[in-house]
Amino acid sequence: MKPNLSQAPGPIGVFDSGYGGLTILSKIREALPQYDYIYLGDNARAPYGTRSFEIVYEFTLQAVNKLFEMGCHLVILACNTASAKALRTIQMNDLPDIDPQRRVLGVIRPTVECIGDMTHNRHVGVFATAGTIKSESYPLEIHKLFPDIHVSGEACPMWVSLVENNEANDPGADYFIKKYTDILLEKDPLIDAIILGCTHYPLLLPKIRQFVPSNIKVVSQGEYVAASLKDYLYRHPEMAAKCTEGGECTFYTTEAEEKFTESASTFLNERISVKRITLE
Ligand code: DGL
Repeated sequence: MKPNLSQAPGPIGVFDSGYGGLTILSKIREALPQYDYIYLGDNARAPYGTRSFEIVYEFTLQAVNKLFEMGCHLVILACNTASAKALRTIQMNDLPDIDPQRRVLGVIRPTVECIGDMTHNRHVGVFATAGTIKSESYPLEIHKLFPDIHVSGEACPMWVSLVENNEANDPGADYFIKKYTDILLEKDPLIDAIILGCTHYPLLLPKIRQFVPSNIKVVSQGEYVAASLKDYLYRHPEMAAKCTEGGECTFYTTEAEEKFTESASTFLNERISVKRITLE
């Protein structure tokens, strides 16, 4: 059903399947502290990384519609899996019908834009969820901008669970970090830059750095997404004018509130309060 949308200015919406998008949100808030934000985590249905295209699209569209109903004119899909599997369809097929003036942006394009300057060898690696790797979104987007770059991807199915279960800094995590790092570097020993193409992975960065040789750059996407959004709002003053400036952030989850508050503190290093909602 078509949502009933207000034309009054509203917060910027930031959506993720769960907690991972909080790594993006914190960088966005650092770069653009003046705006109001709504963070929505579909924790009850996460992870998205193993789900089909159809389901990720359906869930993401529900979340986008909810954020529009809450007053957002601009929504960031702070989730690589949703950006890979749902963004394009929502932009092309759904937005013209919902409201052609509203915008949904993803995290893959801004990450890819920076990679040309990061690789000297023109060999890049991508760590991401199985869904993102299977979608081929990173090689496709990289080749649009940099056809000369050779891209190798590796799905790291255990890494999201390590973070979700607060095991990111435990010695047990080492096995799975080394495992996927070794596979990627064996696939292409010429890699000199690796994109962390999943919002959870920056929390594993200290461990990833232990197993990746120091000459290889490891790229966390938060700051590039934030810089790209800043640039977007500068280039689109008509959209900036629709984003309220109160410096507030409200949090919503589809899971139990206590659970979100507890885990979100790992990602944000601060206590927050959250409200539970349902998506349909
Ligand atoms: N946020 C997702 C991503 O960036 C990872 C978690 C999930 O699989 O839902 O791909």
